[in-house]
Amino acid sequence: MANSLNDKYKILFVCLGNICRSPAAQAIMQKYIDERGLQNKFEIDSAGLYGGHAGELPDKRMRVHARQRGYVLEHRSRPVTESDFNEFNLIVAMDDSNYSRLKSLAPTVEDEEKVVRMIDYVKNFPQFHSVPDPYYEGAEGFEIVLDLLEEGCSSLLSSLNKNQGEKV
Ligand code: 4NP
Repeated sequence: MANSLNDKYKILFVCLGNICRSPAAQAIMQKYIDERGLQNKFEIDSAGLYGGHAGELPDKRMRVHARQRGYVLEHRSRPVTESDFNEFNLIVAMDDSNYSRLKSLAPTVEDEEKVVRMIDYVKNFPQFHSVPDPYYEGAEGFEIVLDLLEEGCSSLLSSLNKNQGEKV
């Protein structure tokens, strides 16, 4: 839950490199927040568990595929830090490895409970049990990531908004 009535509910999307999946999730979610006029209620960011791409723009392949659907990816990669667990209300992991690493990074039990899986908000692609890493994949890998993230972000935002910022 947000810290006070005037605080925004803050969501952090996390993947491994913070150059493919999580910056795409961030751009998709920002578009949905803007379209639904919820800018005063939600604030979002993204980060990665591997810091080797820090400072970089998202992978060009992801930028191209996202742009074809109307999303402009401008985030600069940054590593997750322990202070993110203080800063954010919800931390959304793209796959099981991200999820377990985030849980073990969480400073407190309450912080651990902030970590959720993006795929748990996706119902239309039952064959997927995570948002798969597209880095070593072809064009199709990037397209399926965007399909999963569009449904996941839309459903996550609806649940959060319905519950006025409560975790669902
Ligand atoms: P992401 O994809 O976690 O969706 O940003 C990756 C990007 C870079 C690497 C792995 C995954 N890498 O190993 O450099």
